[in-house]
Amino acid sequence: MSTLAGSKILVTGASGRIGSVTTRRLRAAGAWVTALSINDDPSLEADRVLVGDTRSQDDVAEALEGADAVVHLAALAHRDIAPPFDVYSTNVVSTFNVLAQAGALGIRHAVVAGSINACGLPQNVHEVRPAYVPYDAHLPVDIADWYSLSKHQDESTARMAWRHWGIDVVTLRFPHVNSEEALRAQSLQLAEDPRPGLLEGWSYLTTEDAARSVELALTARTTGAHAFFLAADRTLAPYRTEDMLDAFAPEVLRTRRFVGREVPIDLTPARELIGFQAEHEIELPTLDLPTGL
Ligand SMILES: NC(=O)c1ccc[n+]([C@@H]2O[C@H](COP(=O)([O-])OP(=O)(O)OC[C@H]3O[C@@H](n4cnc5c(N)ncnc54)[C@H](O)[C@@H]3O)[C@@H](O)[C@H]2O)c1
Repeated sequence: MSTLAGSKILVTGASGRIGSVTTRRLRAAGAWVTALSINDDPSLEADRVLVGDTRSQDDVAEALEGADAVVHLAALAHRDIAPPFDVYSTNVVSTFNVLAQAGALGIRHAVVAGSINACGLPQNVHEVRPAYVPYDAHLPVDIADWYSLSKHQDESTARMAWRHWGIDVVTLRFPHVNSEEALRAQSLQLAEDPRPGLLEGWSYLTTEDAARSVELALTARTTGAHAFFLAADRTLAPYRTEDMLDAFAPEVLRTRRFVGREVPIDLTPARELIGFQAEHEIELPTLDLPTGL
């Protein structure tokens, strides 16, 4: 039986792409789930469904009643989804509100949806390159947009909440997360032109694996505030990683070599801290990078 059986978990952003699959998964593990969403979603199945705003102190207080743990996924999930002020303020106020209230209530565990964008590279408006690959926890940040800034700030909020209230927080730095069908379509685009995937290291995760990582982060009982990258082991492009780096980022330092289509992201903390390894990979052949791409 899962250690989550009988525990009461608040999931914010429960009607979203990752939230709906996560809510289903946590309930299947035996948790009693409160779902907080800003929109009424009749298809959402949870033990308690609340419509509310994660920026509202009252809505979050009501949602946290009786909770043992919180999974905070609510956010405006892209730079261009709303005006800059709305994206930044919604994300940072929501994360502060959820973690501060959970911490003050004595709730011990939180899992927060972070992003690969916390490093600032994928949604940057300049021709940026990472200082080195594989991406790891020490990669210098280069932020030029408000969504990335909000995700970077959320990690500081998580550290503050742990330091102040002692709430353990795992921030999962998700890469692009989508259904297998959507990811397969994206892999065809990357086969045509891999360049747009460079700053994300051609990384991805299925929604099922993202939801699994949330469950593992809840059960791992990691202490402190941790933020780390997650991704499938191999890239979403059908070419060798070394060949793509030679072609599109020859000047970027490689602190080690990559085998086949190995993703250029350090996945060690995800394995060591929560025991995560992706189970749902998009099957792709390993092809020679066409000349002239
Ligand atoms: N999907 C990805 O590729 C990806 C990648 C990296 C990080 N993330 C992060 O994962 C989390 C979930 O992403 P997703 O892909 O499921 O996005 P999504 O847009 O499908 O879901 C986000 C949910 O948050 C809700 N929400 C937004 N503002 C709210 C508010 N003020 N109050 C209450 N609810 C609010 C939305 O209504 C939506 O249901 C987000 O924090 C996102 O930044 C997603």
